[in-house]
Amino acid sequence: MSKKSIRDVEVSGKKVLVRCDFNVPLSKTDGSISDDKRIRESLPTIKHLLSGGARVILCSHMGRPKGEFNEKYTLKPVAERLSELLGFEVPLAPDVIGDKVTALIDALEPGRAVLLENVRFYKEEEKNDPAFAKKLADMAELYVNDAFGTAHRAHASTAGVASYLPAVCGFLIEKELSVIGGAISEPKRPFVAILGGAKVSDKIGVIDNLLNIADAVIIGGGMAYTFLKAQGLEIGTSLCDEERIDVAKKAIEKAKEKGVKFYMPIDVVCASEISADAEAKTFDADKIPADLMGLDIGEKTRKLYEDVIKDAKTVIWNGPMGVFEIDKFSGGTRAVANAMAASEGITIIGGGDSASAAGKLGLADKMTHISTGGGATLEYLEGIELPGIAALNDK
Ligand code: 3PG
Repeated sequence: MSKKSIRDVEVSGKKVLVRCDFNVPLSKTDGSISDDKRIRESLPTIKHLLSGGARVILCSHMGRPKGEFNEKYTLKPVAERLSELLGFEVPLAPDVIGDKVTALIDALEPGRAVLLENVRFYKEEEKNDPAFAKKLADMAELYVNDAFGTAHRAHASTAGVASYLPAVCGFLIEKELSVIGGAISEPKRPFVAILGGAKVSDKIGVIDNLLNIADAVIIGGGMAYTFLKAQGLEIGTSLCDEERIDVAKKAIEKAKEKGVKFYMPIDVVCASEISADAEAKTFDADKIPADLMGLDIGEKTRKLYEDVIKDAKTVIWNGPMGVFEIDKFSGGTRAVANAMAASEGITIIGGGDSASAAGKLGLADKMTHISTGGGATLEYLEGIELPGIAALNDK
C-alpha cells in the first residue's frame, strides 16, 4: 500500500487522534453491545500506540444522530467495553471538543487512552467542516485513521482532519486493504464473486467492476428476480426493480462479452408473503406462479452454487441469498456460508448481513477474512477511491 501507516511514524509521548469505527450493533432490549467485532479489530492499533508510549485520543461515530446530542447514540457502552478489553479504564469524554475535553487530554499519561463522545453529535462532522476538522486536529500531534467501515465517508474526522496533521493509517485499514485489495488485484483463480441482498442499486456498481476481474459471478437474494425478469422470465410477485431491468440486462451481456460465467437461480423457494407462517414451496425459475414471490434460492441452485464455490481459489461474498432472518428462507444463505467455510481457497465476506449470517452459523473463524466494512467494502469492490484513505499521507 502506498499510504503511510503507524509503522512509519514515531509515537512516543505524542497525542494521537485515532479515528475508529465503533459503530457497533446494540441490543434492542438492554442497549448492550451485541457484536463487538469492530472494537476488537481496533485493538492491535490501539495497543501498538499505547505500548509505544502515545497518549491516545479515540474518536468514532455511532449511528446517525443527525448533528445533535442524543443519549441513545452515546459511546458510553463502547468506553465500557474498551475498558474491559484493555484492562484499564478508558474514560468517555463529556463532549467531542471544548475546554473540558482538552483538560482531560492534557492530563492523559503516556500509554493511556480517552474516548471522545460521538463525533456525529456535531453537524459539522458529516459536512466535513474545515473549522471543526481543525478543532479536532488541534487536540493532537498525529492522526491515525483505522475506521475502515467509515472510510467511504468524506467527513471531518475521517478525511478533513488529515489536512492539519501528519496522517497515517492503522493496522485494521492496512489489513482490510491488503486482504481485499490483494484478492481482487491478483486473484488466485478461479475467482468467484457472490452478490446477494435485496437491492440491485446497492450492488450493480460492484457487479459491473467485478465482471472485469472475476471468472464467475453468482447472483442471489431479492435482487436476483430483476435479473430473471431481464431474461424475460415471469417472477410472480417477487421483488423487482423495474427501473434497473436494463442495467441487469447489460450486466448479463457484459458477462457474455467478457467470458465471465454468470449464475442466476435456476429454482426458487416461493411463498405468498414474507412470513414465518407462510407455506414455502420450490419452483423452477421459469415457473414461478403469478401469485407467489421468490424468497430464497432452491435446492438445485444451492447445489450448483456449492459446486462453483468448491472449485474456486478465491471467493468474495456480499449479501444473503434469501430472507435468511426467517428459518424456512435461510437455506440458500446457509448453503453458501457452509460451502465457503469448507473451501480451501481464499474466502472473504464483505461485511453486512452476510457477515452476521456467518457469525450466527458459527462459521466466522472458517473464513479467511470477514470485513468490518459494509458500505465501505462495497465501494472498494466497486473500484471507488475511499476518501478516508485518499486523505492519508503517501509513503
Ligand atoms: C457502517 O456501519 O456502515 C459505518 O459505520 C458507516 O455508517 P454510516 O452508513 O452511517 O455512514
